[in-house]
Amino acid sequence: MEMADTILVTGGAGYIGSHTVRMLAAQQRKIVVLDNLVYGHREAIVDDSVELVVGSIGDKQLLRELFARHSFSAVIHFAAFAYVGESVTDPLKYYRNNTAEPLALLEVMQEFACKSFVFSSTCATYGVPEQMPITESMRQAPINPYGRSKLMLEWILADCDHAWGLRSVCLRYFNASGCSSDGLIGEDHNPETHLIPRVLMALTGEAGPVEIFGTDYPTPDGTCIRDYIHVVDLADAHAKALDYLSTGGASQRVNLGTGVGVSVKEIIAAIEKVTGQTVPVVLGNRRAGDPAALVADPSLAHQILGWKADHCDITETVRSAWMWMSGSKHGRYSA
Ligand SMILES: NC(=O)c1ccc[n+]([C@@H]2O[C@H](COP(=O)([O-])OP(=O)(O)OC[C@H]3O[C@@H](n4cnc5c(N)ncnc54)[C@H](O)[C@@H]3O)[C@@H](O)[C@H]2O)c1
Repeated sequence: MEMADTILVTGGAGYIGSHTVRMLAAQQRKIVVLDNLVYGHREAIVDDSVELVVGSIGDKQLLRELFARHSFSAVIHFAAFAYVGESVTDPLKYYRNNTAEPLALLEVMQEFACKSFVFSSTCATYGVPEQMPITESMRQAPINPYGRSKLMLEWILADCDHAWGLRSVCLRYFNASGCSSDGLIGEDHNPETHLIPRVLMALTGEAGPVEIFGTDYPTPDGTCIRDYIHVVDLADAHAKALDYLSTGGASQRVNLGTGVGVSVKEIIAAIEKVTGQTVPVVLGNRRAGDPAALVADPSLAHQILGWKADHCDITETVRSAWMWMSGSKHGRYSA
């Protein structure tokens, strides 16, 4: 049996997970990553101190072996599927992986009396919000199976707290963006649907022109506004959530965003400034279910976790993403 402060990170070979694992390892925390590598990358685990176990969160036998061997003090749960469009056409895939599979993980946690859980939730649980900025007390009414699959796990966690004292922090991320400042790890989704890498791929020649979905929204420049939260700030929030739980903090759910909205056209302008290139664009129609604006009120995370976003300059966020995408420092995993 090892020391009781090892942390299990599911989905730690993915985009946000790998940045978090790297930060936690730098803080000398002992980490075991469980990732089936369906979307993750072995190369995203850069610290030798981190053990990568290739397997699924639904594999109870494997989980029991891991829990028996490590005596985990907490679990950070990133593992999920996150393609909103696919969740509409194949909802069962999302309810299976994002809602049902975590039950095995929670059952094994209960068996081994591991009672601290940090969960990657999402602003998609709010659906189309009635007010802006979005606070945690606002109604959660997701408009797609992805958002519902995540909200259901929030509810399950609350029930587990009530029944057997599982304390959880649900971190509702807004739009994760950017990459580590040295360009060693970064965002590498395949397929890629996120705006910043999509625009950069239009410049590297990996994708065609960028389609702007809707230019007639009631926003200053007519395009959708989102809250782009730097992945390193997200990683920091996970470290703070672990500290909060380890000092006995009660279950919480907090928004993780900058509190600042940035439009699609502003992202494109920032990318043109950073790269010195003109982004080829096509003006398209609105997509069904795309709210005009999604911006966090992040004040509760500050109050409860002592967290706030430090990387709020969108130009710098875009610069870090470009350094990674262009491979100017290290090259990408698939490159
Ligand atoms: N990227 C965003 O902007 C964003 C916003 C809100 C919430 N989230 C949530 O954050 C989490 C991480 O997102 P990401 O962008 O890093 O995604 P990602 O796809 O890069 O990472 C998810 C990781 O989980 C792994 N995985 C999936 N199902 C698994 C399973 N059953 N067993 C083991 N491993 C499994 C994948 O291989 C991948 O490495 C997800 O839960 C997502 O829903 C992301």
